[in-house]
Amino acid sequence: MVDVKHLKLIVEIDRLGSLSRASKELNLTQSALSHQLKNLEEYLGISVFHRVGNQLLFTEAGKELRDKAKHMMTEFEALELKIQEIKASQLKRYVHGYSQQEAQRLADQASTVAEYLHYDSIWEEESRILEVGCGVGAQTEIIAQANPKSQFVSIDISANSLEIARAKIEEQQIQNVEFRLQDARKMSKEKDGLFDHVFICFLLEHLSTPVELLKALKHLIKPGGTITVIEGDHGSTFFHPDNAFAQKVVSAQVALQRKRGGNANIGRALYPFLNEAGYKNIAVSPRQIYVDGSKPKLVEGFIKNTFTAMIQGMSEGILSEGVLTKSDLQEGIRGLLRTAESDGVFSYTFFKARAIV
Ligand SMILES: C[S@@+](CC[C@H](N)C(=O)[O-])C[C@H]1O[C@@H](n2cnc3c(N)ncnc32)[C@H](O)[C@@H]1O
Repeated sequence: MVDVKHLKLIVEIDRLGSLSRASKELNLTQSALSHQLKNLEEYLGISVFHRVGNQLLFTEAGKELRDKAKHMMTEFEALELKIQEIKASQLKRYVHGYSQQEAQRLADQASTVAEYLHYDSIWEEESRILEVGCGVGAQTEIIAQANPKSQFVSIDISANSLEIARAKIEEQQIQNVEFRLQDARKMSKEKDGLFDHVFICFLLEHLSTPVELLKALKHLIKPGGTITVIEGDHGSTFFHPDNAFAQKVVSAQVALQRKRGGNANIGRALYPFLNEAGYKNIAVSPRQIYVDGSKPKLVEGFIKNTFTAMIQGMSEGILSEGVLTKSDLQEGIRGLLRTAESDGVFSYTFFKARAIV
């Protein structure tokens, strides 16, 4: 069958004018290149080249093929560029973005709420665990350290985030994590039962079809293995002193995420979604983060550096999508920060679900 490899070969020989230069360019030995040409000619039943000494001259049929091949390679390159562009715009649509501040916020969030979310993130020794959407590795370092005898494969679609994650894991001298640039929605060709367990944190909220992802991951888990999913739910937010602008800001964040295809209130839907995806023995455990003046670490780490920082990080999106006016947004952020004073109270609930495949 003629494939892209053959077309590329013809185009390169034409461009470079000799077999030896084309073989270098294509990283092939000259004999491998000659062999591929022979195969192509045999398959087509035509001669593509006259061989005159060391030179290759296109036959009339070869010229036709060359011109068609050039056209198709141009189309092919345009397609590759288009795919790159689509990928980049998908990343842009990712509501939290990939800024340095967001990397810091994810780290603050993970360490602040670790004891609430991860006291039971323990799998049996020697497990192989797939972490989906690991980002900058904020959860990775916690769960990898808590399970030193298990092996983690942590994937993400952001190469930059993975670089930060790798550096962090190396710095901590954590040995049981392998990072991979991989789209979780494209793992259908991976072997069945490759992992004992799957772990997902704060990813489903960004997907327009979370159930599809949950279904797509099932075949990767060994029979009897588990999936663990942690997500937030902005509808669970309440605070004192109450403030209409602060409430508006939280709703604006939910609206923006919905506009971008996600669901910031997904925590409450973990049970039905896992059920729809066909998982068994689903157990959902709400993890309430209740903060008042007696918990200065949470005031700093959660109210300021996690929740309000998240809203601040999304300000540009909220304003550019016209979800809220600038003055309402500023007033709302002031209202959220007000709850961090000594008489303030803030509550938010995460949902952690575990199910068997
Ligand atoms: C909010 S971050 C959470 C990161 C990390 N789990 C944490 O809790 O700190 C969501 C991550 O999911 C990644 N992501 C989004 N879609 C993905 C996909 N289809 N496959 C793999 N990763 C994806 C994003 O690039 C981002 O790094």
